[in-house]
Amino acid sequence: MSLHISAQPGEIAPVVLLAGDPLRAKYVADHFLQNVKLVSNTRNAFYFTGSYKSKPLTVGASGMGCPSIGIYSYELYNEYNVDCIIRIGTCGAYTTELKLYDLLNVDRAFSESTYAKYAFGYDVAHLYHEGKAYAAINDTARTMNLTVQTAVIHSSDIFYRASKGIPEIAETNKCVAVEMEAYALFANAKHLQKSAATLLTVSDIIPTHQKMSPGEREKSLLPMMELALEAALNV
Ligand code: HPA
Repeated sequence: MSLHISAQPGEIAPVVLLAGDPLRAKYVADHFLQNVKLVSNTRNAFYFTGSYKSKPLTVGASGMGCPSIGIYSYELYNEYNVDCIIRIGTCGAYTTELKLYDLLNVDRAFSESTYAKYAFGYDVAHLYHEGKAYAAINDTARTMNLTVQTAVIHSSDIFYRASKGIPEIAETNKCVAVEMEAYALFANAKHLQKSAATLLTVSDIIPTHQKMSPGEREKSLLPMMELALEAALNV
């Protein structure tokens, strides 16, 4: 047991898929895993362990934002000996060159967050994916005939802001989309020498206010889930 995850030692698999939303984690477990067990429900952040095509796999919830994914991913790596975390999330596109449902594999995340600086002394505004999960996602997508774009993104602490424009850090660094977690996940993986990737589905186009409807969300996230599951077999 860790402070925020109540699974027993050995109940978390070496590879973990992390969704922001606990119910999305449950959806993946219910639809894709065999021999599933709920191994933690502390704070309703569900963690399920089962197997996918015979490989042990855990799917769980990170919550929203760098502080939340910072806690869960640190405990998974450090206390449950997890080797690889693949985040499966959604993002807002800053550019109309991206379309709803596009899949992005995050190469680099820029952030104004002080998480990496104050946790580990990484006084940098951008961090890279870590280890082999990113390449495994690209390779797996190719074999599945799925288009996934590699992307530089903005991990923001802010969802609601007064200014309507694209934040300066994103504009300057040509970030194509925004989410809220990759930077802290990558910081933890770098510090602990683990593997981390972030796979995103575009859920809204910020300049045009176009959005996936709640009804579309479930079905439209399936390609990302299937890609993450298949990539998990190759990490
Ligand atoms: N901002 C931050 N995170 C997001 C967004 C957004 O617009 N859309 C989906 N995740």
